[in-house]
Amino acid sequence: APHQVSIEIQAQQSGPVINKDIYGQFAEHLGRGIYEGIWVGEDSPIPNTQGFRNDVVAALKAIQVPLVRWPGGCFADEYHWRDGIGPRDQRPVKVNTHWGGVEETNAFGTHEFFQFVELIGADAYVNGNLGSGTVQEMAEWMEYMTSDKNSTLANERRKNGREEPFEIAYFGIGNESWGCGGHMRPQYYVDLYRQYATFLKTPPGKRPKLVASGGHTEDTEWTEVLSANIHRDMDGISYHFYTLPTSDWQKKGEALGFDESMWLATLERTYRIDQYLRDNLAVLDKNDPDGKLAFYVDEWGTWYDPEPGREPGFLYQQNSLRDAVVTAVNFNIFHEHAKRVQMTNIAQMINVLQAMILTDKEKMILTPTYHVYGMYKVFQDATSVPFKIETGQYGNGDKSVPAVTASVAKGTDGKLYLALVNLDPNESATVGLKLNGIKASQAVGQILTADKMDAHNSFAQPEVVKPKAFSAKLSNLSLPAKSVVVAELK
Ligand code: AHR
Repeated sequence: APHQVSIEIQAQQSGPVINKDIYGQFAEHLGRGIYEGIWVGEDSPIPNTQGFRNDVVAALKAIQVPLVRWPGGCFADEYHWRDGIGPRDQRPVKVNTHWGGVEETNAFGTHEFFQFVELIGADAYVNGNLGSGTVQEMAEWMEYMTSDKNSTLANERRKNGREEPFEIAYFGIGNESWGCGGHMRPQYYVDLYRQYATFLKTPPGKRPKLVASGGHTEDTEWTEVLSANIHRDMDGISYHFYTLPTSDWQKKGEALGFDESMWLATLERTYRIDQYLRDNLAVLDKNDPDGKLAFYVDEWGTWYDPEPGREPGFLYQQNSLRDAVVTAVNFNIFHEHAKRVQMTNIAQMINVLQAMILTDKEKMILTPTYHVYGMYKVFQDATSVPFKIETGQYGNGDKSVPAVTASVAKGTDGKLYLALVNLDPNESATVGLKLNGIKASQAVGQILTADKMDAHNSFAQPEVVKPKAFSAKLSNLSLPAKSVVVAELK
């Protein structure tokens, strides 16, 4: 039988703003994420603008990517910025020891990164090297990027083609310092953070938000130790959470061809982030009662077994309707915690993990995840509107999740938007809305759904999963099984 869901909306009240940076993306030097995915070089037969793929740039502009994090991930803590500046044919070739042991030509460096974000209209999140770089190296990179003086470093930037300083929205001091970033204890990291942050100097008004590298999954110790011991030069603490269907890193589960138990396991795992956020935010509420610190989920998304026959270190995976549902569930959770959760980055933008875009030489496909980003863009900088939802569960005694989750917000265009996701792959849901403070009779927008749980777009069939127009009377609002809807209430 269909799920019976009721939602009561207080349209006359407002909650926190949903920071557009919640819709940020992560682009690491990993597999075919940067090389092939973004950068093909000026001499490539693939249509490009100064080396950047035209098709990819246009697709990313269409979903209004607000922010891109670069160069890693684990790669960030072995990246030396001087390798990636100056004439490309003179840049050193390194080995990407984290990801496949492949050659890193450094053709894509600091200038290329900023050119790319400027092309797609996004802000920059640069992640510094704390794990294997020095305080001096990090401080000089910051000066190189941001100084407006006549210093030798700023003039080197000018000589390399960039007169004006680059604008950095966020700067990360290390990545996963508990793991690939140096296997540190949080107590040790705290002192390093304080030291590195001290020497990051920027012109007045140009200081990026500084991000401390925090914990992951159920851990709250990093949030605890960092928020209790870093008292300046920290705007927020980062946190990572990946959705593995099995929760087992040796056998994570497949991207396609899974059964319903894996569908449920994936959604149950992804939904855990709600509790993990609550636990971490409770620590912040205790140590930072004035709410000065933000919480940044700067890596999240699905992580499946590598596709057979491909380099496992490249983390290439297909993307299906299940990923679309995972995306919408996460957005609805992030919106709920929008007071502190002010920035997130899905891992990763192109050809890596839960990607927006997959490429094969000159071909490109948009994934179901991409389409959810497109549908949800009305929530960027929208003001959340309080609501109460009553819904049954989907699942069994062992594992279950809410059958339907939702978001309500007033967009920057003044319109009232409702997002709904039905997590149940078999049953539809009937949604009864009670509106306070606004009159509306219909929901008009878009829906994303498909017949099969693992419906996906391929290079042979690129348009199997894509949004369609949605229009319903509020007196008769129903969500098909396994679907995502974003609609204006009017
Ligand atoms: O996104 C892939 C990797 O996952 C990142 O490099 C690292 O930070 C995390 O472990």
